[in-house]
Amino acid sequence: MLKVYRGELLHFLADPAKVALEDSYQYIEDGLLIIKDGLIEQVGEAADLLPTLDETIDVTHYENGLIMPGFIDTHVHYPQTEMIASFGEQLLEWLENYTFPFEDQFSDLEHGKKVAEFFLTQLVEAGTTTALVFGTVHKESVEAFFTVAQQKKLRMICGKVLMDQNCPEYLSDTAQTGYDDSKALIEKWHKTDRLQYAITPRFAPTCSKAQLNKAGELLAEYPDVYLHTHLSENINEIAWVEELFPHDDGYLDVYDKSQLLGRRSVFAHGVHLHDKECQRLGETDSAIAFCPSSNLFLGSGLFNLKQAQQFDVNVGMGTDIGAGTTFSMLSTLNEGYKTQQLRGDILSPFQSFYLATLGGAIALDLEGTIGNFTKGAEADFIVLDYHATPLMDRRVQHSKNISEKLFILSMLGDERHVKATHIMGERV
Ligand code: GUN
Ligand code: ZN
Repeated sequence: MLKVYRGELLHFLADPAKVALEDSYQYIEDGLLIIKDGLIEQVGEAADLLPTLDETIDVTHYENGLIMPGFIDTHVHYPQTEMIASFGEQLLEWLENYTFPFEDQFSDLEHGKKVAEFFLTQLVEAGTTTALVFGTVHKESVEAFFTVAQQKKLRMICGKVLMDQNCPEYLSDTAQTGYDDSKALIEKWHKTDRLQYAITPRFAPTCSKAQLNKAGELLAEYPDVYLHTHLSENINEIAWVEELFPHDDGYLDVYDKSQLLGRRSVFAHGVHLHDKECQRLGETDSAIAFCPSSNLFLGSGLFNLKQAQQFDVNVGMGTDIGAGTTFSMLSTLNEGYKTQQLRGDILSPFQSFYLATLGGAIALDLEGTIGNFTKGAEADFIVLDYHATPLMDRRVQHSKNISEKLFILSMLGDERHVKATHIMGERV
């Protein structure tokens, strides 16, 4: 069955930091997106493609909007939805005082389902169609999340948190139970419909060597699942890791020694990486989730995007809710731009939207499946509306080209500017 959408179209073909700008994207002012059985069939100029279509086919015309692939959130915590905007702390105190007590509720499957329903609705309304998601230590939290994501036909990646030290007793597993529960979840859910599993050690401070080694063992048994954790987010955290693991050569090396780096390994933050750590991430094809909203909220620091690019590290954008303060990828790009300004670096609008779409897909090893309009990709796409608010409506009248329009969307945009979200071609 064909579905056809007409409008202003943009998608990325490559990283604008690596190829000539004009080769990095395809932009069509009046384009057609042709979808067959939920997958991209063809994209091109409306004038060229319209005459090739059967006259009986309905064309949905999105006027005054920009059609692009759905956003990809490469790091977010669904159980932290209801504790977003908790005041006044940096990472370690924030975890202890707000986060851990809150995550206790997710031993209850029904509670997890209710929060997952709200979380996924918010995400989709903000134009995000795929995310790499933390559960809690409870296997029920992942069961709940996948159940709801499956009903919504979303491509989602999630995993049960592993933590067996330096956390409250009520949130603690063991190296063995963490391994067993993760394995059972992988067997049940990984690659069921559009769902995939991520082995999820919370971060080095809350994981014993035995637990990290078990995570590495599990990853070797299931090489096509993900590894998802936090890395070098906060100065006190890094000092603590060095105290806890004195025989390793820094934070990343703790993970490396347990065989946790690789093509489907995603490390959130990486705000304070040494060059040699960045180099190691690059050579192992690992990825970083850049989470500017969270990094600003917790006062963690300013991510060095240039350094990551220099060492050819895959980078995607993450909201990191509930340390991040927004579901909106547009608002997250706003904060990302400002973090780079404070570093004296410039984040171009093309680079921003690349990171939020194809960059995220590459970070998640899903290029060709999501992230752009390549033939055969899953047709998860959004329509951004320049006129949803009076201010953007006014501002955009003075814009001269797509670069300016993208910048305006990322500086003034939020959920209100996402006019429609489509999953496998269907509007939701
Ligand atoms: N490091 C370990 N756990 C967390 C968490 O829940 N949020 C953030 N931002 N950093 C972490
Ligand atoms: Zn996080």
